[in-house]
Amino acid sequence: MGEIRVRRMRPGDVAAAAGINRAITRRRASARWTAMVRMLIQHGPGECLVAEEGGRVVGYILGEMKEFAFGAERSGWIEVLGVHPRHMGRGVGKLLGQRLLSTFRRKGATRVFTAVGWDSGDLLAFFRSVGFDRSAFIILENGSA
Ligand SMILES: CC(C)(COP(=O)(O)OP(=O)(O)OC[C@H]1O[C@@H](n2cnc3c(N)ncnc32)[C@H](O)[C@@H]1OP(=O)(O)O)[C@@H](O)C(=O)NCCC(=O)NCCS
Repeated sequence: MGEIRVRRMRPGDVAAAAGINRAITRRRASARWTAMVRMLIQHGPGECLVAEEGGRVVGYILGEMKEFAFGAERSGWIEVLGVHPRHMGRGVGKLLGQRLLSTFRRKGATRVFTAVGWDSGDLLAFFRSVGFDRSAFIILENGSA
């Protein structure tokens, strides 16, 4: 296994992230998804990261800092992450998660949140492995919107 390097995501990496998404979900990333990623990179360039191996992007993580959300003055949010299926299970996700968590801490986040589908066993196990647990907050949904 080559050396895995984590760096900030650039607009030029969006296509690679979309390719990883496609490999995971077997569906092409929508134009809205691509636009959202660009917006997150612009909004918080230090909170969107990629992992590279041999010059190729093999994983990405997108986060953002929020002010006054969920009772925390400054909190970090992990929006989405993905590791290319060929590179899963080799510590890439953990490296990205730990790097983003330390960025959030450095920027003064007192808490970090994310939301995971109840049936996404892989993501749940992953987030547990980097220190997450069930939150006291619950997600509400208005299905008619
Ligand atoms: C979840 C995911 C990010 C993990 O990345 P990864 O590089 O494969 O994970 P790592 O090798 O860094 O493993 C980190 C930890 O997560 C756990 N983990 C990762 N994948 C797991 C799985 N499929 N089942 C159970 N545990 C898993 C590992 O056991 C490990 O725990 P440990 O450190 O205590 O041993 C990756 O599998 C992924 O991208 N999955 C799809 C995510 C997704 O659906 N994204 C949204 C759409 S793109």
